[in-house]
Amino acid sequence: MAAALGVAHIGCGAIGIFRAEAVAQTPGLKLVVVADVRQEAAEPLARRFGCAWATDWEKAVSRPDVDMVIVSTPPHLHATMTLTAIAQGKHVLCEKPLAHTLEDAHRMCDAAQARGVFLKTGFNHRYFPSMAFARSLIDQGRLGDVISVRAYAGHPGGKEFGPAWVTDGRVTGGGSLVDNGIHILDLTRFFLGEVATGKGYVANLIWPFPAAEDNSFALFRSAQGAIAQVQASWTEWRGYVFWVETVGTKGYVRASYPPMFAEWGETTPGNRAKRRYNLFPAFQVQERLFSWRWTIVQSFVQEMTDFARGIQRGNEVPATGQDGLKAMAMAHAIYRSSQQGGDEVSVG
Ligand SMILES: NC(=O)c1ccc[n+]([C@@H]2O[C@H](COP(=O)([O-])OP(=O)(O)OC[C@H]3O[C@@H](n4cnc5c(N)ncnc54)[C@H](O)[C@@H]3O)[C@@H](O)[C@H]2O)c1
Repeated sequence: MAAALGVAHIGCGAIGIFRAEAVAQTPGLKLVVVADVRQEAAEPLARRFGCAWATDWEKAVSRPDVDMVIVSTPPHLHATMTLTAIAQGKHVLCEKPLAHTLEDAHRMCDAAQARGVFLKTGFNHRYFPSMAFARSLIDQGRLGDVISVRAYAGHPGGKEFGPAWVTDGRVTGGGSLVDNGIHILDLTRFFLGEVATGKGYVANLIWPFPAAEDNSFALFRSAQGAIAQVQASWTEWRGYVFWVETVGTKGYVRASYPPMFAEWGETTPGNRAKRRYNLFPAFQVQERLFSWRWTIVQSFVQEMTDFARGIQRGNEVPATGQDGLKAMAMAHAIYRSSQQGGDEVSVG
């Protein structure tokens, strides 16, 4: 059996704590060091998991016993941290959105390829059971050819849903579309395939956030003519929710969270499908016992297990850096389109 990969984890905030928990549960990984500018965040986490801590992330990354770096800091720091780690030959799992600007995302992907290391984007929503189930129906050919996707992600935009920097476009590179929206942009590609063009509007309908829209409404089209409709919102008063509905020539699946749920059906064109439901009962029980945190950590464990195996075998594992870049390109296409009054623009 290959030796465990040493992990340096940068950023011990809300997500960093979950990520550190997930590393501890992931076969093939060993948490070596956690880093945060705030000693009060790094030290207790290190004590909890029996690893070293640092307030200087560069020192953590350059340790010889570190093979892989996880970047869980605000997005304007992703590029510098990722590029430094890559330059030292470390594999990187970087949180979403991959970068603050498209140019940075390109540089990160190019650097990983040139250095021969793997870059993975933190699109853990692909590992949510409802989403993985939807993908498996497509893979089995049960829905036929995918012709359309409708996707939605929303939350109320208040303090409960992230630190203050989340709503500052100068830190994140955008608004709702690159925050909660970036997951459904990725899932749209995951189910529909590549999109070629996009059009849409972004707006601050209620929140006066700097350079960060609270709503975006987008349409995308693939080169083959398949269409996707995507809305990302920070005015979803019911609370955090996301869903993706995929329609194929022979059926449909609507996957959502929370709760973890999928509705699907197989049919022939023109005929009503018998509705079927997947309630993921084991997940419902675990979540009832351990809250939504359990779901997030489990998605991270699966994501990191895949990444660790890929590194050991020399295989790149989706969602890659390129996947992170392409989701950002979709968001930026909508920003351009909105500035041009909703014109159709090319993605990429
Ligand atoms: N995958 C998901 O579903 C998901 C959900 C929420 C957030 N995120 C992403 O995770 C990342 C972190 O988000 P968060 O909610 O944990 O933010 P957070 O503000 O709670 O945590 C960020 C941490 O980074 C630390 N930090 C800042 N500058 C640093 C530096 N120079 N060196 C070391 N540490 C530094 C901060 O002190 C803080 O502890 C972001 O990229 C965010 O978009 C992902």
